[in-house]
Amino acid sequence: DNQIDALECMAIDPVRYLSNRSSGKMGFAIAQAALEAGAEVDLIHGPVVLTPPSRSRVTAVVSAQEMYDAVMATVESVDIFIACAAVADYRIEAPAQQKRKKDDVSLNLTLTPTRDILLSVTALPEPPFAVGFAAETENLLRHARSKLERKSLDMIAANQVGVEGSGFESSANELHVLWKGGEQVLAKAPKQAIARQLVRLIANCYCLRK
Ligand code: PMT
Repeated sequence: DNQIDALECMAIDPVRYLSNRSSGKMGFAIAQAALEAGAEVDLIHGPVVLTPPSRSRVTAVVSAQEMYDAVMATVESVDIFIACAAVADYRIEAPAQQKRKKDDVSLNLTLTPTRDILLSVTALPEPPFAVGFAAETENLLRHARSKLERKSLDMIAANQVGVEGSGFESSANELHVLWKGGEQVLAKAPKQAIARQLVRLIANCYCLRK
C-alpha cells in the first residue's frame, strides 16, 4: 500500500516508525516571514500538523530521501536555501514487511545514514545562499561553527536543545546566528518574531554577498 511505501524509509514495520520532536513551527514561521518580506517561497516540509502559509508552494514529504529529492528538484532555481528541518540522520536499513511480534529477546535495529541534504546543496556548482541550523545539546557555538565550515554555509542558526520553553515543539525560540563576518543573538521570543529577525539578517548578508 502507498502509505506503507512512503513510510518505508523511516519505518520499523508497517505500524511503527522513528521520528523526532520537531513540530515544524520554526520552519513554517520562517516561510511566513519570508513571504511577508516579499520573497517567493517553496516550502518543503516533513510530517506536521500545521497549516502552511497560503502563498507558499508546498511540498509535503515523509522520509529524508523524499525531502532530498524534493529539495534537489527545486534548489537550482532558488537564490536562498534555508534548512530548518530536523532531517533524520539515519533510517532503518531493512523495515519489516509485517508487524513485528513481541518476544523476550532484545530487538536490534540496524540504522544506515541518510544523505545530508544541506551538504548536497552547498556542493552544487552554483549553490544558493545557504542557511543551516544546528540543534545541539552541548558546546553549541563550537559545534555550530564547525557545521558552518564543514557544510560550506553562508550562515548558521545555533539552537540550544533543552532550554525550558524554547526550541523543539515550543512556540518560542532563541538563536545564536553566525556567519563569516559576524554573529548575532536573537533573544527568546515567539517563533514568528525570531523568524522575522532571522529573515532580516539573511537578507542583509545576502545583499552584501552579491
Ligand atoms: O520544528 P520546531 O518544533 O519548531 O523546532 C525547531 C528546530 C529546533 C527543529 C529548529 O530550530 C532546528 O534547530 N532545526 C535543525 C535541527 C537539526 O536537525 O539540526 P542538525 O544539527 O542535526 O542538522 C544540521 C543541519 O543539517 C540542519 O540545517 C539540517 O536541516 C541539515 N540536515 C541534517 C541532516 C540531513 N540528513 N540533511 C540535512 O540537510
